[in-house]
Amino acid sequence: MTTSSPPLALWTQRQISRFKPLLFLVCLLPFIRWWILGFQDALGANPAEYLTRSSGYWALVGLMMALAVTPLRRFIGQPALVSLRRMLGLFAWFYAALHVTGWALWEAGFSPALMLDDIVQRTFVTLGVIAFLPMTLLAITSTRGWIRRLKQRWQQLHRVVYAVGILVVWHFWLVRDGKNDTFEPWVFAALLVVLLGARLVHALKTRPSVSPASAHRACHHTAVAGSASETRG
Ligand code: HEM
Repeated sequence: MTTSSPPLALWTQRQISRFKPLLFLVCLLPFIRWWILGFQDALGANPAEYLTRSSGYWALVGLMMALAVTPLRRFIGQPALVSLRRMLGLFAWFYAALHVTGWALWEAGFSPALMLDDIVQRTFVTLGVIAFLPMTLLAITSTRGWIRRLKQRWQQLHRVVYAVGILVVWHFWLVRDGKNDTFEPWVFAALLVVLLGARLVHALKTRPSVSPASAHRACHHTAVAGSASETRG
């Protein structure tokens, strides 16, 4: 007779939902901290720079956490964890939006000409903008309505988050390289390699092996199943 440890019970969506308010509060902590520091006049010699950099940092952390959800839920076998991904992604966008607003206000006085100049002149700013635009698109299309409307294209669109991750780590690296302080960007780059690598390994493992004969059978089967589901509505 063999004894094996029982598998971890699957968490339900309802159990995960109970955890959401706590996660929400944790994600809000940097924002609350800025207010407390602000009231104590403790934002440092240059509060504008502090807030711009801090919001960029927490946007990056939020993005990494959102990217970690899928590999983590596969690793520990808890598919329901996926319901936390949207909140983490939206927090990443929230901090990124504050970061971009800080830059636009304190570095360019909201002047479109100065902003454009900065985007053209400084490579790390160019990369930041290229990352922020698709992040905004992902935030807008993260609702149930958009998931329903875009169907399979939703997943294809949301794969752009990998490119956003690479761009943002590159942006971070360039900022810190200018200050000869690239330790943290390397840590984030290593984390990104692990997270994207885990997805790649999973994609390769689950890729169906296709021989010409089985491809033909699969096409035939899909066509039949497709027409059947169409008739079902
Ligand atoms: C319009 C887009 C963006 C612009 C114009 C922009 C601009 C800036 C600026 C001016 C800095 C400060 C550089 C310095 O202190 O010398 C910075 C730093 C940073 N940004 Fe951005 N950024 C953008 C998008 C993003 C996005 C989308 C993220 C993350 C998701 C991000 C993450 C960071 C990080 C992590 C830092 C470094 C903070 C630190 O040194 O601790 N940025 N960015």
